[in-house]
Amino acid sequence: MQRTLVLAKPDAVQRGLIGEIIGRFERKGLKVVGLRLLHVSRELAEEHYAVHVGKHFYGGLVEFITSGPVAAFALEGPDAIAVVRRMVGKTMPNEAEPGTIRGDLGVSGLRNLLHASDAPETADSELALWFGADALVHYAREIDAWIVAEEPTRT
Ligand code: CMP
Repeated sequence: MQRTLVLAKPDAVQRGLIGEIIGRFERKGLKVVGLRLLHVSRELAEEHYAVHVGKHFYGGLVEFITSGPVAAFALEGPDAIAVVRRMVGKTMPNEAEPGTIRGDLGVSGLRNLLHASDAPETADSELALWFGADALVHYAREIDAWIVAEEPTRT
């Protein structure tokens, strides 16, 4: 089971898309294990986007993510990192496939609605950064047996 971080960026919050976005992940079968709505400090933004320091769009990224409230979700499920990235779609909404969140809801590269962790190492560090070590919730759902099948044992 994997955990991953999703941020609904200020454009998604301003457009009233938090429910639509989180609903897509819930309907997929992913479990919400963390939820926060926050104004992002410059310090948090700079730490989150540290890998992009020096790129031409870095300044704009920090400006944008601090421009209004952000909704942060932690999601759990089998192969959650890749599943979420596929659902989010390509970075540039004008290139993202219909059926993906960016493909369905976005049109401009600079307003791409979401961030999603791209690998297990980044998911771990981003979840720690946005939620802290102990803030995620552990719980079982009865419906999980209908969503996640046990792997058959090989004989
Ligand atoms: P995000 O997933 O938040 O992480 C890095 C962000 O950089 C990405 O979403 C885009 O918003 C942004 N980004 C990536 N490439 C470019 C680019 N060429 N020009 C502008 N922004 C970019």
